[in-house]
Amino acid sequence: MKLPVGTIVVLDRQREDIGEVVDLANSIAAHGLLAPIIVQPFGEGTYKLVAGGRRLAACKSLGHTEIEATLRDDLDEVSETEIELEENLCRTDLTDEEKAWAILKIHRLKVAKYGKATNGGWTIEDTGKSLKMSQCTASGFLSVASRLERIERGEEPPDEALQTALKKSIWEAVKVDNYRKEQAVLQVINSRLDEVQVEKSLQPASEILAEVDKMLWHGDCRELIQRVPTETVHMIYTDSPYGIDIRKAHEKSGLTADLYEDDSVESLAAILRSLCPEMYRVLKPDGFVVFWISFKNMFLLQSEMLKAGFRVGPVPYFWVRPSGICNNVKLWPASCVDIALIFAKGNPHMVVQGTRNWLDTPPLNPNDKDMALERPVELNQEIIRRYTLGLPDELVLDPFAGSGSTLRACLNLHVGGLAFELDTTNYAAARTKLFFHMAGRDQEAYQMLELGYTEAQVAKLNREAMAKIIADGIRAERVSVLPDGSIKQFTA
Ligand SMILES: C[S@@+](CC[C@H](N)C(=O)[O-])C[C@H]1O[C@@H](n2cnc3c(N)ncnc32)[C@H](O)[C@@H]1O
Repeated sequence: MKLPVGTIVVLDRQREDIGEVVDLANSIAAHGLLAPIIVQPFGEGTYKLVAGGRRLAACKSLGHTEIEATLRDDLDEVSETEIELEENLCRTDLTDEEKAWAILKIHRLKVAKYGKATNGGWTIEDTGKSLKMSQCTASGFLSVASRLERIERGEEPPDEALQTALKKSIWEAVKVDNYRKEQAVLQVINSRLDEVQVEKSLQPASEILAEVDKMLWHGDCRELIQRVPTETVHMIYTDSPYGIDIRKAHEKSGLTADLYEDDSVESLAAILRSLCPEMYRVLKPDGFVVFWISFKNMFLLQSEMLKAGFRVGPVPYFWVRPSGICNNVKLWPASCVDIALIFAKGNPHMVVQGTRNWLDTPPLNPNDKDMALERPVELNQEIIRRYTLGLPDELVLDPFAGSGSTLRACLNLHVGGLAFELDTTNYAAARTKLFFHMAGRDQEAYQMLELGYTEAQVAKLNREAMAKIIADGIRAERVSVLPDGSIKQFTA
C-alpha cells in the first residue's frame, strides 16, 4: 500500500544517525523502491515506522510525497525491534561496532522471547543462523558488544586497544577481547594462589604443633610401639643408644655433651630384646630395617633381629667422616665410620637399586647440633629415599628419635614418619626442631618463636593475641599469657 510520507512517525530508532542516503536516493530514483518500508498503525491516521528508515529518508530527499509500505498490525514490540535490527544488519554501510550492538540487541530480544539456552531456549547458534552467520562470528560480535556495554556502564575501564581494533574489524576486536578474557582468568588464578599463600602463612602454631605431636611421641619405644598396628610400617630407620657408656667415652675424649644417662650394654640388650619382635610385627610383610649401631654391639643387634625373624643383610651402610672420636688414643685409632645394619622381613625390593653402601655426607657443624648424636638430615634422606616412593601413606618408623632428624628427612621426602623419644630434653629439642621445620620462615608460628615464645605458649595463645604480638613485635618477656589465650603486657 502507498502511504503519505507525512503520516509516518519515526520514533526511537535503532540507528539514530541515518547518515548519507545519496547513493540510496540515486538508486531509488533509477530503479524505484525495491522493498517497501514496514509500518504499524499508530492511531489517528498515522503509522509508526518499523523498518526502512534510510529508504524513507531517501524518498523524502527525492521529494516523494508517498511511499510503498507494508502494514503490520500483528507485531509486538519485540518483533518490531527485531525486524528493524535485522533489516539494518543487512545494510552494507554498517560499521562492525554498529553490527555488534545490533546483534547484541537481537540476541537479547530472542532470549527474552524464547528463554535462555541453559533452559533449552535461544542459543548463540540460533542468533547466528537467524542472521545467516556462523556461531563463531555471532559469538565474536556478542562478546565484543557485551564488553563495550560494560565499558559504557563504567563496569570496566575504557579500552583504547579494543576501540582501535574494532575500527579495523570485528576479528581484530575479538583478539583483544580474548586477550582480556585470558588476563581476567589469570588474575583470578593468581589471586587464588595469593590467598592460598596467605592461608598457608597463617596456619596457626597450634595446628602445626598438633601435626608434630602426631609424628613424635614422648616415651619408651618399647611401650609406644605396642600402639602401632600390625604390618602398617613401610620401613624402620633408626639409631639406638650404642650401649657403650657414651657419656664416659665423651668425657674421656675431653668432650662435654648432653647425652642420655643409661647407655650400658645391659640396658641396650634389654631394649632390643623387647623391641626387635615388635619391629617385626609392625613392619609390612615385605620391608627393610636400617639400624645404626656401634661396632661393639652389632652382633647383639644381629642376634636379636635374627631371633625376631629378620634376615640380616650381607653388607651394612658405612658413613665415613673426616674426623671421629676416640677414648684412648694410645690404644685405638679414632672412629670415623659409623655403621648401619640392614635387615629384611619377607622379600622386599629396594626402590632405588644399584646403590653403594658407602656414604660420605658431611657431618653437622657442632654449633648446629641440638644434641651430640644428631645425624645430618641429608644422610637419613639419602638412605630412606632408597626404600620409599615418596608417598604420604608410606610410614617410616624411628623408635629412637633423638633430635628428630629421621622425621625431618621424612618431611623432606614427603613420606609419613613416626618416632619415639624417651629423654625429655631430647624430646623437647626434637619437637621444637620439627616445629621450625614444618612452620617455615614465612609462617606466623615461626615469627612467634623468633619473638621468644615457647611452643607451649604459642599453643595457648588465641588468634587475636597472636596477631597483635606479630603486628607489634611484642617479645615474650614483655607479656604473660592468660588462661583464656589473651595476653597481658607488662608496662615498661
Ligand atoms: C643415638 S640417639 C638418636 C639420634 C638421632 N638419630 C638423631 O639424629 O638425632 C638415641 C636416642 O634414643 C633415645 N632413647 C634411649 N632409650 C630410649 C627408649 N627406650 N625409648 C625411646 N628413646 C630412647 C635417647 O634419648 C637418644 O635420644
